[in-house]
Amino acid sequence: MKIIHAKDYEDMSRKAASIIAAQVILKPNCVLGLATGTTPIGTYQNLVEACKNGDCDFSEVSTYNLDEYRGLDHDDPQSYHFFMRDNLFDHVNIDLANTHVPDGSNPDAAAACAEYDKIVAEAGYTDLQLLGIGNNGHIGFNEPDDHFSAGTHCVDLTESTIQANSRLFEKEEDVPRQAYTMGTQTIMYSRMILVVANGEKKAQAVHDMCFGPIAPSCPASILQLHPNCVVVADDAALSMCEGLY
Ligand code: GLP
Repeated sequence: MKIIHAKDYEDMSRKAASIIAAQVILKPNCVLGLATGTTPIGTYQNLVEACKNGDCDFSEVSTYNLDEYRGLDHDDPQSYHFFMRDNLFDHVNIDLANTHVPDGSNPDAAAACAEYDKIVAEAGYTDLQLLGIGNNGHIGFNEPDDHFSAGTHCVDLTESTIQANSRLFEKEEDVPRQAYTMGTQTIMYSRMILVVANGEKKAQAVHDMCFGPIAPSCPASILQLHPNCVVVADDAALSMCEGLY
């Protein structure tokens, strides 16, 4: 794992966007794995700027998102479909037909997940997978468990995740209790992984991801086994890793 120290959120966002832009420049028809959450919003803003400046051309890029809440329509403002259009897709020259997010509106979980696995595999998996990290070490919506997950599956969200994500909903009861998520194995198939993390709330998870035992109780810890994983984190998120890297 390569750890890149960023001063603050803005610095983290610029560095992460530069890495993604470099990937797009090196391979214009690359396959990007994308993430939602508050953390990558600044990264997306920098990519939008890079696209406007002519430094990053998304016309041949295709994308596969990590996850989606089960039961939300694509136009629901809380859906990750909406989030991606709002934060990135509507502002860059990407062909929407080349963007993919698990279909949370399909109530048939087995069919929705199997279909997503099929299209990610057909794309040859991702060249670069962007990841945020949950306070409890989750990646995508792969929550702490007694085993690592494989392909796309339906998960029951933990209380900790429901609570953490409730800040984005009007009431905690509004947070969907289930989601479809790419599995840990699929994430590991990516040729490169880029984790972004900021803030004190992520310090324990970042420490456990980078230096804790590799165990499904911290799903992100498996990234220690990835041959090309880069973590870009700010001062606060790295506060428990001092002297370790
Ligand atoms: C959600 C998403 C994850 C994300 C995590 C952290 O649960 N499914 O992909 O990494 O939240 O979100 P945030 O960046 O808002 O802290």
